[in-house]
Amino acid sequence: MHDPALFRTMHFERFQAPPAIFAAPGRVNLIGEHTDYAEGFVMPAAIDFATLAGISPRTDGKIVIYSENYSTERTFETSALPASAAHHWTDYPLGVLSILVSEGHTIPGFSLSLWGDVPLGSGLSSSAALEVATALAVTSLLGVTYPGPVLARLCQRAENEFVGASCGIMDQFISANGAKDHALLLDCRDLSFILAPIPENVALVIANTMVKHAVVGGEYTSRRAEVEAACAVIAGHRPEVRFLRDATVDDLEQWGHEMTPNSLKRARHVITENLRTVAAAQALIRGDLSELGRLMAEAHLSYSQDFEASCVEADTMVSLANNLPGLIGARLTGGGFGGCTINLVEQSQAAAFAASLAGLYAAQIGIVPQVHICHASGGAHRLQ
Ligand code: GLA
Repeated sequence: MHDPALFRTMHFERFQAPPAIFAAPGRVNLIGEHTDYAEGFVMPAAIDFATLAGISPRTDGKIVIYSENYSTERTFETSALPASAAHHWTDYPLGVLSILVSEGHTIPGFSLSLWGDVPLGSGLSSSAALEVATALAVTSLLGVTYPGPVLARLCQRAENEFVGASCGIMDQFISANGAKDHALLLDCRDLSFILAPIPENVALVIANTMVKHAVVGGEYTSRRAEVEAACAVIAGHRPEVRFLRDATVDDLEQWGHEMTPNSLKRARHVITENLRTVAAAQALIRGDLSELGRLMAEAHLSYSQDFEASCVEADTMVSLANNLPGLIGARLTGGGFGGCTINLVEQSQAAAFAASLAGLYAAQIGIVPQVHICHASGGAHRLQ
């Protein structure tokens, strides 16, 4: 189905109408974890896994959504769109529709086909890819073009307000605005960004621990609450601190004793991670790969020990990678508690690195991991 021509035929045969087709990528975050909702910095790249959305208009007042991945079709009436989530994959496209309605749009009838190869529940933002692909498809039908950052914000709202996941802006932003062969340093306060070229001889090797990761509910949400509680303590003394983005390590030294031990550790991760992320972007831009790798290693330790968002499997994947030839830097990527590690690896060594890492991990953990050699890809777009 990678072939858009096949996808087009599939849509045509099912709905008897030619679709307009849009693609939105998943992402891998090089550094900057749980900093986005603290209005800090992140540095993700879009990757060459994506969701395709094919759309054609209907005249019967229905919205019919078909997922090729789930081989399931669901039908809704434009006059009675669901107002809340049903804990089903259709929550993501319906969430986008709900936000577009709240922006004043009237949603017409349409047929939507979806297919994606972003591994699900792996911390590679399959949800954001689905939201952004749907948003591009539906807005094209409406004849509306939103700038990428605005589209990303609408999709984040779909996830926050409809799906019920308290995620930040990173995933939707990079899916909508990624640039081929570049990582993107995003300031999550004002959504300004700079692109950092990833050298041609560097591969993004993504190793899936096969431990499922989820953002809805659970540990992601409780970590976010601990971060916000730490911020509230500092804001009690320095009201200008609205998010941990505004706080410093000195603040923790002064007022950390007023926080729970967990809040203190979570805040130390977020504050130091912001500094590391900006430094990592500068290192990448000046081509200092050994400094970038050092910062990624430090970020993993902080994520694992202070933020306690890692797991035995991810820690093992990172420490095995650290001993392999060609590694520049390795860390757990994404929301945490499973999912994938990102390994920056010298391109010439990438295939051997991937094979060795998979073998060592399987021998030690007893699970065969999926290891993908990826490249930074462009953001969401219409296919011709
Ligand atoms: C998930 C969320 C993002 C971000 C990361 C952690 O991917 O969707 O907004 O918070 O976790 O960095």
